[in-house]
Amino acid sequence: MTDPVQFIRANTALVSPPLVPEVKLHLATEVVPLWQLTEEELAAKGVAPPYWAFAWAGGQALARYVLDHREVVAEKSTLDFGSGSGLVAIAAARAGAESVLAADIDEFAHAAIKLNAVANAAIVSATTDDLIGSDGNWRTILVGDMCYERPLSERLLAWLVDRAAHGATVLLGDPGRSYFPKGGVKRLATYRVQTTRDLEDRETRETSVYRLLALPGDGPT
Ligand SMILES: C[S@@+](CC[C@H](N)C(=O)[O-])C[C@H]1O[C@@H](n2cnc3c(N)ncnc32)[C@H](O)[C@@H]1O
Repeated sequence: MTDPVQFIRANTALVSPPLVPEVKLHLATEVVPLWQLTEEELAAKGVAPPYWAFAWAGGQALARYVLDHREVVAEKSTLDFGSGSGLVAIAAARAGAESVLAADIDEFAHAAIKLNAVANAAIVSATTDDLIGSDGNWRTILVGDMCYERPLSERLLAWLVDRAAHGATVLLGDPGRSYFPKGGVKRLATYRVQTTRDLEDRETRETSVYRLLALPGDGPT
């Protein structure tokens, strides 16, 4: 069984995502082996596709927004759902959130979040529980780049609308993924995010931050 902490240390470099230079993360880069490993090679080591090893465009935009609009998290209990590297959670902690929970069902992401929080002296709790459907009372819920798969998006958005109806501020960062809702959201900001050609089909992606609307009839479509 591959040890997540050893694997992360051996296969990443501590670098800053282009849009969030004030945060350092253990990420895959062209110069470390993780970049070249195929899904089969990873599976043989017991490692799921390493989403946590990249700062996705949606997460970069959302982290930038949180750092530049601290009031969305300041003194508020905050959840970063589908945290991956922990980038958005770390941004929320830096922006003065009362507490930050980073949720990701992948145990390698869990280890990466903890390592990355320490690297940035950020206080972040982490869980591998699937929180969709839970009645947690976070005042702000942050969701970076999660609309890439239909079943997950549908389940997640239904739950987020319910959380918004219960008073949570729900912010989504998204670069135009296939299952991002076409309505029921309000665009707050747009960024041009530098990505990598190995992940995306282009070098930059226009990526927006949205607020999920909770009024009856205004939900996502
Ligand atoms: C595309 S990555 C986005 C990571 C990060 N938010 C960012 O923008 O860089 C999606 C992440 O969601 C996680 N994920 C998938 N389903 C999940 C669930 N039900 N609960 C929590 N995390 C989940 C995956 O493990 C992966 O790390």
